[in-house]
Amino acid sequence: TDLSKIRNFSIIAHIDHGKSTLADRMIQVCGGLTDREMKEQVLDNMELERERGITIKAQTVRLEYKAKDGETYILNLMDTPGHVDFAYEVSRSLAACEGALLVVDASQGVEAQTLANVYLALDGDLELLPVLNKIDLPAAEPERVRTQIEDVIGIDASGALEISAKTGIGIQDVLEAVVTDLPAPVGDPNAKLQAMLVDSWYDPYLGVIILVRVVEGTLKKGAKVRMMSTGRTHDVDRVGVFTPKHVMVNELGPGEMGFITASIKSVHDCKVGDTITYEKDPADAALPGFKPSVPVVFCGLFPVDASDFEYLRESLGKLALNDASFKYDTESSAALGFGFRCGFLGLLHLEIIQERLNREFDLDLISTAPSVVYRMGMTDGTEQELHNPVDYPDVTKIKWIEEPWIKATIMVPDEFLGPVLTLCTERRGEQVDLTYVGNRAMVVYNLPLNEVVFDFYDRLKSISKGYASFDYEIVGYREGDLVKVQILINSDPVDALAMIVHRSQAEYRGRQICARLKDLIPRQLFKVALQAAIGGKVIARETVGALRKDVTAKCYGGDITRKRKLLEKQKEGKKRMRQFGKVEIPQSAFLEALKMG
Ligand code: GTP
Repeated sequence: TDLSKIRNFSIIAHIDHGKSTLADRMIQVCGGLTDREMKEQVLDNMELERERGITIKAQTVRLEYKAKDGETYILNLMDTPGHVDFAYEVSRSLAACEGALLVVDASQGVEAQTLANVYLALDGDLELLPVLNKIDLPAAEPERVRTQIEDVIGIDASGALEISAKTGIGIQDVLEAVVTDLPAPVGDPNAKLQAMLVDSWYDPYLGVIILVRVVEGTLKKGAKVRMMSTGRTHDVDRVGVFTPKHVMVNELGPGEMGFITASIKSVHDCKVGDTITYEKDPADAALPGFKPSVPVVFCGLFPVDASDFEYLRESLGKLALNDASFKYDTESSAALGFGFRCGFLGLLHLEIIQERLNREFDLDLISTAPSVVYRMGMTDGTEQELHNPVDYPDVTKIKWIEEPWIKATIMVPDEFLGPVLTLCTERRGEQVDLTYVGNRAMVVYNLPLNEVVFDFYDRLKSISKGYASFDYEIVGYREGDLVKVQILINSDPVDALAMIVHRSQAEYRGRQICARLKDLIPRQLFKVALQAAIGGKVIARETVGALRKDVTAKCYGGDITRKRKLLEKQKEGKKRMRQFGKVEIPQSAFLEALKMG
């Protein structure tokens, strides 16, 4: 193939700025699919992605475009995930491209993830082509946004195309600009093979499919390849491209994107960012930038109905088939029974997995509060990682404990800035920067991740009426005065409610959870004491008073249907009771208590 006729590019944008809509339009214009095949948003192919309108897995499609110069070009368009938790996947997808379309909603302007994605693209030395989308909207202000792109991002936006991915205005110009303004790939077809593993997923018919970008050499069907990070070898049984349908080919040359299959059973053997080479005559070095993805947020998932345990295991296994960054291990809890400790790339990743378990597998689950990964130095000189507050060792054996910190970038309209600063300060944040772009403020804070996994997104959303955008990256570990807070019900610790918090927050959080539990735990025949404690020291307490005999008495005989409802509700509740010491606690109480917020 003639490399000068290839363009590899992605589309980067803040969520909802129109990335997928634009991609679909380009596919349509290039005739990759007939109208009948052209389902809405082809690239976002998982049901959940479509429903939530977000992209999780990177997809790629190969388009043929006849340009104004009369030549036909191959455009490899790579879709990238739009959320912070998947930043590493985004950076790998971008590393497979020479350029990117930077889509900015002309009615919204630059947002936190526009910036985050731009930084990733600039890190990867990509040529950026700014595009102003949604100009059909009456609220569109292309001129203002053009200036904003120049001020905030510092790239020339004078030539930025004004388009509407929805109505189709300007799509042809975008395709033409991809050909004229973005660089072609370079590479030697006879060099030793270096192909980047950009993504992988499990397909029920083909097994594991690996998305690759060949950088040097030629990747041929039938060859034996080696994954450079693990040393494992596999026989390539299929080579193909997406148009977006699977089309088989015999080989992929340098600068080309496509997929291979190699009878691989699990995506866990396919590490994003890894280099694929030949077993015979391998490349001397792997491509730069490989970094195995590590889970940073953990939580326990327990079936509400204990008999669902095996089914839950099966379901987690199915999800893991398609998600190499999702990890799980069995765990048992006195309060919640048997379940799994699960690791995620971030909060959204956690939410997606939970929702899929609930929706696709119809599982009713309880999850414990998310926890980050702590590092501890012990008095005997060893070091440990802590993934679960329950495993917090004897305090006297701990020399130091460190927690992960993030650098958060928040963009917010001026009028909501005050509450945002307060929130960040409450969460132990340190302000790094505060700048203005028009009437929008851009604040940069260093924050402990521990404080962010605890309802930070929700609070940010509500105090800014949804106008704040947020992005973060992990910047490292710092020592902190972190303690384990236990919740005791009649002096018995409830393992599922244990949490690790900064000492300054311990009392507040302990009091909050006790108060909440007090409302959630139904009265018993005796008094129930609820306590929060650090070690042996009680820092908060509440009491659930003893029960009055007739629960329906408060309906004072009037409304019979209300009475019946109350009784039925109790019956329903009975099924889901957990015996805790002498105390019966409905599962729903744990669920609610764990929701916090
Ligand atoms: P993620 O996949 O979550 O990153 O979002 P996205 O950037 O792919 O956004 P998407 O293409 O799903 O578009 C978000 C919303 O904006 C959808 O409701 C689109 O219909 C709408 N939209 C996209 N382009 C335009 C446009 O040019 N004009 C108007 N009016 N709406 C648009």
